[in-house]
Parts: sequence; C-alpha cells; structure tokens
Amino acid sequence: MALVGSAVGLGNIWRFPFLVGENGGAAFVIIYLGIVFMIGIPLVLSEYLIGKGAQRGPVGAFRALAPQNRVFRHQGLLCIVIGFTILGVYNVVSGWVLESLVESIKTGFQGQSPEQISRNFTDFTSSVWKPILYCTGYMVITSLIVGRGIEKGIEKWNKILMPLLFAMLVALCINSLTLSGAGDAIEFLTKPNWNQVTFQTVLDALGQVFFTLSVGMGIMMTYGSYVRGSENMFRSKATASVIDSCAAMLAALMIFPAVFTFNLEAAQGPELVFIALPNVFAQMGTGGWIASVLFFGVLTIAAITSAISIFEMLVTITIEELKASRRNATIGVAGASLLLSSLCAWSMGVFNGFDGLVNKFLLPVFGIMCVMFVGWVLRRKVVEDIFTSQGRYSLRIFRVFYFIVRWVAPVAIMCIMLGAFGVI
Ligand code: TRP
Repeated sequence: MALVGSAVGLGNIWRFPFLVGENGGAAFVIIYLGIVFMIGIPLVLSEYLIGKGAQRGPVGAFRALAPQNRVFRHQGLLCIVIGFTILGVYNVVSGWVLESLVESIKTGFQGQSPEQISRNFTDFTSSVWKPILYCTGYMVITSLIVGRGIEKGIEKWNKILMPLLFAMLVALCINSLTLSGAGDAIEFLTKPNWNQVTFQTVLDALGQVFFTLSVGMGIMMTYGSYVRGSENMFRSKATASVIDSCAAMLAALMIFPAVFTFNLEAAQGPELVFIALPNVFAQMGTGGWIASVLFFGVLTIAAITSAISIFEMLVTITIEELKASRRNATIGVAGASLLLSSLCAWSMGVFNGFDGLVNKFLLPVFGIMCVMFVGWVLRRKVVEDIFTSQGRYSLRIFRVFYFIVRWVAPVAIMCIMLGAFGVI
C-alpha cells in the first residue's frame, strides 16, 4: 500500500497523458508498458533489495554494502541532487493543481468555452507571481507537516485517498467514454504509428517509467530499509507496479476523449490535463462542479503525500549528514527547494530543463548504477537470499530477475540513452 501511495500521483495523471499526446499515442503506450515489465519492475526490486540488505537509506546503504567500492560509495549523494530537482518541478505542478482546485470551488468551470478554459490556464501559468504564490502555499503546507514530524499520520490518508482516487478515475473514464470523441481517442491509444518513434520517444518512456514508479532516487531503498524478515518481495512489488500502470491508463482514457471531443491539441505539453479535464466538468452541469472539486481535491492531497516523501528523504539526509536539528533541516530544505521551484514556476524553459535533466538523465543514471550494483558488485548468493527470503519464494523468478539486472537492463538503459543523445 505504501508503495502504491508513493507511485500513484501526478506522474500518472499529469505526466503520462501529456507524454502520450506528445509522442503520438499508441506506440508510446506499448513501449512504456514494455519498459515497465522489462526494466521497471526489476529496477524497483533492485533498489528495494539494496535497502533491505543494508537496512539503511540511500546515502548509507551503498557505504554499508560496499565500503571499498569507490564508485558506488558516493551514489547516495546523487539522490540529494535528484530529490531537489524533482521537488522543484513537482511543487510547481502541485501549485497548478491547487489553482485548479480554487477555480473549481469558485466556478466549477461552468459555462466556460474550450477557448476560455485554455486561455485562463495559460494566462495563469505564464503570469509571473501567481504560479510562484500557489507553489509557495504548497511548500508551506508540506514543510509544516514534515517539520512537525507528523508525516506518518498524513501518509495513512493514502489508505482512504488511493481507493477514492481510483474510484474517481473510473467514474470520469466512463463519463469520458460517452463523449463524441471517444472513438477517435481509442483509436489514438490503440493503433500505433511507428513512424513517429525515435530514440527520444523511447527515452521519454524510460524516464516516465522511472518517475511513475518512484524509482531511481533512493525512495524504494528507504522503504526496503524499514522491512525485516521474510516476504514475497516479487509479488508485492510487481502488483504495485501493475496497479500504477493501470492508474496511468485510466488517466489517458479519461483525458483523450475530451481532447478529441473539444478539438484540443494532443501535443500541447505539460498543461494538457489542466486544460482538457475542465472541459469535461464544464459540460456536466452542477454535477461537474462537485466532480471537479472532488477530483482536484483528491489530487491535491495525493500530490502532497508524494511531495512529502521526497521532502522527508532530503530532511533525513540533512539531519544525518550535517547533524542538523529537524527544525533547521526542514527550513533549509524548504528554502532551497522553494528557490528552485520559483525558478521553474517563473520560466517554462527552466521547468522543462529540470524535468528533462531528471527524467532523461539523472534517473536513468541512478537506475543503471542500482542494477549494476545488484548484478555485478553484490555476490549472487547475497542477492538470491534477499530476493527469495532465504529460498522461500520465487526461486525461478529470481533467475530471470538476475539475468535482467546483470545484462538486459544495463545494456538497454545505456543504449536508449546513447541513442537519444545521438551517440549511436
Ligand atoms: N511516482 C510519483 C508520481 O507518479 C512521483 C515520484 C517520483 C515520487 N519520485 C518519487 C513520489 C519519490 C514519491 C517519492 O507522481
């Protein structure tokens, strides 16, 4: 449940649909699903396994398991850079969610035309102070929660929120499928057009898999470090990853019928969801008001819980490494990430730069290092014992997993990156 809570978030509802739109639909979906199963799930398992083996979070885990290894020893520090950069972007989008919630409460988008909705939202994102203000509001809420050390209480909300979010997704999907553009949307999402696929497309899909599974920045390691004793690790992680992909598919099915019905641009980028969805609510009458408030309300809290876990990781590292007090660490991390978020909120260029840096470069690099560490640095017997809980579970699956982390995943990630950066 904790894993699903961390994985399902803005990545599924905001990022996945806009990438699908930008990359021509079905082909991207197929590549994405392929990567989830071939690379994503083995990666979640690798990261988790390192944390469980070391019983430590990202910075300490590599040092504990490989004190002599010069390269891997410092890998944890990469998490800090990744954490701050992700938070920079995430907070800005969370600010957009908050703005949409306020707009929902005020008007429920009732009576607004598609042009009006598009214009209102792009006016908002391109203004200077408003996005910064909303994102600051978000940061203040998150810092208060983390600063007081009550994030565990908040994360319990996930148990209620996740099912609620899923229920809303399903309901909105069904509603979208009754729109006149539903047929076109289904065709767009199921009939691949391979002509548009380049290495960039594949790299986009790879980055999205990392982002959506919360992998490649040490979060899974932190989760692993909390767990002792035997468990069927493969089953729980694979299930969580499949649920996460289902959420993404539902989001796409909810949004694209609206895109085709209201003649919106599928490839318009990060603002897609925030423009497409209000059109659906605008059509629904009074029910639309309730639906929009509920939906953006749930999404607001889902975004808070995701941001909290990244924030919390950065605060823990600061406390451990700099021996800071919790209060000072929280203020420091909040201040630094507010600065980064303001830059992102201020300029879409910086926003896209940060997003690309994390998803196309830092997460894959961290991912390669994790699979190489499990496949080549740790001894096979050690990995096998952790994976199978001393031979109790999934022995046959272990062999497949081991082959993937040793050969398939590192080579595939490397090829995709080199290809996209024009080296091969
Ligand atoms: N997976 C989250 C989403 O889809 C985003 C995310 C990336 C995340 N890394 C994380 C969430 C680390 C929590 C912790 O929205």
